[in-house]
Amino acid sequence: MQDSQLFDDIIKQLQEKYTKIDQDTDDHLYGLLYSKPITYWDYIQTDALLNLQIQRTTLPDEMVFIAYHQINELIFKMILWEIEQVASKDDLNAEYFESKIMRISRYFDMLTTSFNIMREGMEVQQYMKFRYTLTPASGFQSAQYRMIEFASTELINLIDFRFRKTIDRNTPFEHAFEHLYWQAAGKDYNTGKKSTLLVNFEKRYKGDFIRFMQTYNTKNLWTRFKELPKQDQQDKDLVKAMRHYDYTVNVTWVMAHYNAAKHYIESGTGDGEATGGSDWKKYMHPKYQRRIFFPELWSEDELNNWGENI
Ligand code: HEM
Repeated sequence: MQDSQLFDDIIKQLQEKYTKIDQDTDDHLYGLLYSKPITYWDYIQTDALLNLQIQRTTLPDEMVFIAYHQINELIFKMILWEIEQVASKDDLNAEYFESKIMRISRYFDMLTTSFNIMREGMEVQQYMKFRYTLTPASGFQSAQYRMIEFASTELINLIDFRFRKTIDRNTPFEHAFEHLYWQAAGKDYNTGKKSTLLVNFEKRYKGDFIRFMQTYNTKNLWTRFKELPKQDQQDKDLVKAMRHYDYTVNVTWVMAHYNAAKHYIESGTGDGEATGGSDWKKYMHPKYQRRIFFPELWSEDELNNWGENI
């Protein structure tokens, strides 16, 4: 195609675009005359990004801790981005679903295999010093991590095992919230008293969480899966992808995290306590927590042995 023909064609398309939204094409073309050429640093916002790593101590390995957590948050954002596309897709089918679950899984696989950056990438002596400046904060307070859970499964699968029988789809969200499995990290169920870790977390996010729980109540990954035609629900690749995702988030990642925590907290150089103050060994292990997003996709045996032998 000749250049002039190509330009005419583009101008025609631009005119169609701007007419649709009651805009003058000329104004937009004039704007182009003065627009700045894009650069890598403006587009990726490297200056802003690289100025977000602010240490609280003089210990160099604290930088590893901050940067790795921030990388995790960026990846969590990408995971939520992919989940939302499945959640809001009109004509959902097995192929699309599977390709999205695999994208999400690749992100979680990356977080799992890279966890050694936390386990091996910091000097124990340094960690045991800078951690005192972090109390009573903890990765436990990652809101995006909780949102990934709410968006992945039905609420009942996130309720503490001890209270599941008392909760069903008619239970108010507020009540369900009080019985989420992670309340056990900082709540004394006998007295109702909550730790500072939990109090601060809820003060900041409880309202957002309740709204998010309501929104995803009808469009979380498991609900969307159950809406697929029966044949699609039996699609081998999709089922394999869902199981892989469930296992990676709720066993492999959890164990990589648990082993990193153990490496530092049990190094013999501190008081053996978590910065967030939980009974961490019991709280964090998958065999006690038994958090499973898609229990219907696992056999009785697999469910009974969840988190064992790893
Ligand atoms: C040296 C590295 C780490 C240690 C020692 C560690 C330790 C802990 C401990 C002990 C807990 C239990 C809550 C508490 O009492 O604090 C916890 C929870 C948690 N941490 Fe970490 N953590 C580390 C790295 C990370 C990273 C890189 C992330 C990624 C964002 C993360 C995310 C979480 C999450 C989401 C929870 C809550 C898990 C749940 O409720 O089952 N942690 N961590």
